[in-house]
Amino acid sequence: MKRTLSLDAYLIGEAGGSELLHAVAAAVRSLVAAAGPIAERIARGALGGDLARVRSQGLSGGGDEQKELDVLAHGACVKSLREAPVAYVLSEEQELPLTLDAAAPLAVAIDPLDGSSNINANVSIGTLFSILPALSGVEPATHSFLQTGSVQLAAGFIVYGPQVSLALSLGAGTSLFVMDPHSGQFIQIAHKLRLPARTAEFAINASNQRHWDASIRAYVDDCIRGDSGPRGQNFNMRWVGSMVADAWRILMRGGVYLYPGDQREGYAHGRLRLIYEANPIAMLMEQAGGAATDGVQRILERKPQTLHQHTPLVFGSADEVARVGRYGTEPGHDAERSPLFRTRGLLRA
Ligand code: F6P
Repeated sequence: MKRTLSLDAYLIGEAGGSELLHAVAAAVRSLVAAAGPIAERIARGALGGDLARVRSQGLSGGGDEQKELDVLAHGACVKSLREAPVAYVLSEEQELPLTLDAAAPLAVAIDPLDGSSNINANVSIGTLFSILPALSGVEPATHSFLQTGSVQLAAGFIVYGPQVSLALSLGAGTSLFVMDPHSGQFIQIAHKLRLPARTAEFAINASNQRHWDASIRAYVDDCIRGDSGPRGQNFNMRWVGSMVADAWRILMRGGVYLYPGDQREGYAHGRLRLIYEANPIAMLMEQAGGAATDGVQRILERKPQTLHQHTPLVFGSADEVARVGRYGTEPGHDAERSPLFRTRGLLRA
């Protein structure tokens, strides 16, 4: 008989005898409880009103345009987190952290709605979360979120797509769950998942190619050359425009995602936010045997300086993430290239 493990049973097992992990489990349950109604609203599409309607320009904490669904998802997550032992919530939708119960042990950072440009496009979007230990002392709310990602107690994301699904790690591997549409319960579909170290699939917004630095152009150029280039193999390119969807695909079959810094105004450090986007993805990837860097440094070692700071982000299959790093750090990024290709890059400046 097929083994089915509910999210609830999984959380109880992972928490074991740890009071802190039981608190983490309660926070995860709260976020998942918010996901049901959010998924329902998304599934109704235009029948439920215009979820992509712009509510305000540049007023979210992250500085992005705020859409109807961003606001709705933020409200649903915060409301639900009030039921959990959470001291502070940092949301992409608000400049400063909210205090829920200062005596509680957890700080939760969320991007309530990732992939906002895909609202109304009937394409997967999602909610990202990072659960940290709350700190006491001076300005505890802000300081709780300015910790390195390596101290995360749990991380995950929910995808609202053809399946409503959850990727989750409490620090002992990464598990995947799918919501059973009949019962509304999340059921485990992969336990202690392992990402293939190598891949032939990359994800990047290639329309930014002219803004990239030479190392990213060289890397993508070499992938595109396929089996007649220095890599000696063909590559496939995928870009959903919702990081959660690209990340889910990478967890399922490997691959590499890149959002580097580039020369556009405001993109020097890429587009993704360190605390509530890069950190949870990095924990999930590493816990699945993958990797996540800013091109050079492990994301989980980076100490955030500000609440909504951006970071370049490369994640996925470990060998490929390391290779992207070598293009950036080794002189002339020639290490990966045969002499034949050193001077003939089609896309080279
Ligand atoms: O803001 C985050 C995000 O929407 C990611 O989900 C996605 O991968 C990326 O930005 C898309 O960026 P762009 O529209 O520049 O391709």
